[in-house]
Amino acid sequence: MGETSNKSANIAFKDENGSSQVIRLDIKTGTMGPTVLDVSKLYNDYGYFTFDPGFTSTSSCESKITYIDGEQGILLHRGYSISDLATQSDYLDVCYLLLNGELPNQKQKEGFNNQIVHHTMLHEQLLNFYRGFRRDAHPMAIMVGVVGALSSFYHDSLDIQDPKQRELASIRLIAKMPTIAAMAYKYAIGQPFMYPRNKYGFAENFLHMMFAVPSEEYPMNPILARAMDRILILHADHEQNASTSTVRLAGSSGANPFACIAAGIASLWGPAHGGANEAVLNMLKQIGNKNNIPEYIKRAKDKNDSFRLMGFGHRVYKNYDPRASVMRQTCFEVLESLGYKSDPLLELAMELEKIALEDNYFIEKKLYPNVDFYSGIIFRAMGIPTSMFTVLFAVARTVGWVAHWNEMIQDPTQKIGRPRQLYTGEKPRDYVPMAKRK
Ligand code: CMC
Repeated sequence: MGETSNKSANIAFKDENGSSQVIRLDIKTGTMGPTVLDVSKLYNDYGYFTFDPGFTSTSSCESKITYIDGEQGILLHRGYSISDLATQSDYLDVCYLLLNGELPNQKQKEGFNNQIVHHTMLHEQLLNFYRGFRRDAHPMAIMVGVVGALSSFYHDSLDIQDPKQRELASIRLIAKMPTIAAMAYKYAIGQPFMYPRNKYGFAENFLHMMFAVPSEEYPMNPILARAMDRILILHADHEQNASTSTVRLAGSSGANPFACIAAGIASLWGPAHGGANEAVLNMLKQIGNKNNIPEYIKRAKDKNDSFRLMGFGHRVYKNYDPRASVMRQTCFEVLESLGYKSDPLLELAMELEKIALEDNYFIEKKLYPNVDFYSGIIFRAMGIPTSMFTVLFAVARTVGWVAHWNEMIQDPTQKIGRPRQLYTGEKPRDYVPMAKRK
């Protein structure tokens, strides 16, 4: 638990009636990061709410999982830097770390991998769900539906008070997500579903289920498998982002884990969050060629134009996104391995990055490329269709959602999340009968 220091902050102000008021708030300190003013008793003790739409200054919970320093561009999972994890671990190690707090030793690694491998198949009746979707359904729509539907199949892992059931639900979600995602893709293109193969690692298996067909052997490209694994690591968790906060809020009511993760997927779908990598590629296609870049930069800077440079800017990072540096490198490795001498969209992306990084507007507002600026280009080179980009993000982020959900359930101070509001609507008024309405 975060420490309440014996220090407190006194906030003196004149209230709306001009009377002097002093509010005393406890100060809490974590192991790193800004000091926190504890406002949890503010309403009870003083009758005030705080106002922070978008939670730009609000810690919604205590957490030991991930630390971000947006000014310095630092991202740590359980204390380990993202670049160390991305270059020295594999995705399942990172899953173990996020869930358990430590990297696994050899025996723990084998045990965990074995558990995951044996939960990758879906209940066969779940496959009927896919056939109910229109062929042109967005795969994220399928993900929200099918993941939510898991709660109707796995009744033995719905009791959130039972640690064993929570563990089973967590393993099932991490293990089944690639299968669900690959099946959404196969359904869209009209190919048979590919069942998971236990001989493959997590990322390999995902590539196999996405790209293999029953009629022939699928040649596994180790560079692509490694790149996929790295992409999964880079997206595994990111502190209290919109989808993770959604999972926590949904879970705070006691909802079952499958329903909570479906809520997280829905939140991730938006273009300001997980939908950004899809939006980056659409934007690059829209820009078309290098000559059009200045026009789009101008539009991005125009307050009266809703156009934004997708893949730029971040709520927390006011520096280079540390995930983007690894992703940029991986992007070049993948393109080289696939023999891309030149990809017009990549060249366009590099030029856009260069121009934006030199532009005063972007410099002053600290808008740097984020992780999604590069992931879309890698996915495209791998032959993954644009509509699947956010789905891959969801596959990777499932462990983060699950880790936060578990942490929340085990927090003894946990209660239902229930924000308040600044009401600006009508005051009480007399009911107007129909005959008198304008
Ligand atoms: N292009 C042009 N201007 C921008 C951009 C952009 N991509 N991002 C922010 N700004 C401007 C914005 O107009 C505002 O200007 P002003 O102060 O003059 O009103 C200022 O920068 C601050 O922006 P904000 O919208 O208040 O910042 P935010 O923290 O609410 O939004 C963001 C963060 C990620 C939603 C936003 O930067 C954005 O829309 N970026 C493009 C979408 C994107 O790439 N999202 C992926 C995020 S990384 C993946 C993830 O973690 O989900």
